[in-house]
Amino acid sequence: MIEVEEVISLPARRGIILAGGLGTRLHPMTVPVSKQLLPVYDKPMIYYPLSVLMLSGVRDIALITTPRDQPQFQQLLGDGSKWGLEFTYLTQHGPGGVAEAYLVAEDFLAGAPSMMMLGDNVLYGSHLRDALERAAVPRPGAQIFAYRVRNPEAFGVVSLDSGGHPVELVEKPEHPDSPWAVIGLYMLDGDAPARARQMSRSSRGELEIIPLLDSYLNEGRLEVEVLGRGISWLDTGTPQSLLQASQFVSVLQERQGLQVACPEEIAYRMGFIDAAALSDLAAGLKRTQYGAYLERLAEEDPGVG
Ligand code: DAU
Repeated sequence: MIEVEEVISLPARRGIILAGGLGTRLHPMTVPVSKQLLPVYDKPMIYYPLSVLMLSGVRDIALITTPRDQPQFQQLLGDGSKWGLEFTYLTQHGPGGVAEAYLVAEDFLAGAPSMMMLGDNVLYGSHLRDALERAAVPRPGAQIFAYRVRNPEAFGVVSLDSGGHPVELVEKPEHPDSPWAVIGLYMLDGDAPARARQMSRSSRGELEIIPLLDSYLNEGRLEVEVLGRGISWLDTGTPQSLLQASQFVSVLQERQGLQVACPEEIAYRMGFIDAAALSDLAAGLKRTQYGAYLERLAEEDPGVG
């Protein structure tokens, strides 16, 4: 049983976006450039996980990249202040695994709980902000999200009992007995780095995320929130899924006239920046539809949409 005082005394969650890796499944596209800088329709891929952290109210964010790619991320994103955020750049020297991020970010986290999103995950949909804000409230243990997919064998998979409680976690099972994929968004408490340190590397030399989550499950400290069909979780791991993600964003934006995963808009609607700052950002992009959209937004009521 978690005590109320224990929750109240926890520091706020700090954000991590894991954007390293070699992107080998997208070669040759990713030979010279980070996968997470490739476009998903009209924006760099990293804007999508960044938007999720921003919608959760997380503003202090570590960006983990390879040493080679870091300057390009810095060129794109800067120190975060233009969007009312604070970025810390960290490097992962090789593809040492998703759980290795907690070791790379150990000093940055300084014991705080975290919300980590993989730099290639796209999440969008109705009531997402409510679910994210709930998840962002710091509490002991670990929380993850499950999403029904047609091909669970391509992901980490969680089996749930009839009450929706997790019973088993398996990374890419050959014969999955559950349709629930574990999406790349992990809310872990301040113990995560110490737990990652205890783990041994898998046969492919990585600190894998599923065994780390399993350590919480074994202690009854893992919660799973099922994301319903109103939410879209898209994969960008293969050329086909990358194209589909771009098409998804294009169709939605075209239909609604609203941007998907626009950090400038989110910063404005969340109150991280004011209308004058938004207008300045729009001015820098004025030859694009994106800039025109931001300019219109700066002139309208921030409560709309
Ligand atoms: O997308 C969700 C899935 O992500 C989860 O269901 C799986 O449990 C989890 O292991 C992961 O599976 P992937 O096969 O997608 O992992 P991948 O190795 O492709 O890495 C995912 C992202 O993390 C990708 O953007 C690259 C980045 N990454 C990965 C590794 C292994 C790093 O930055 N550093 C790494 O060392």
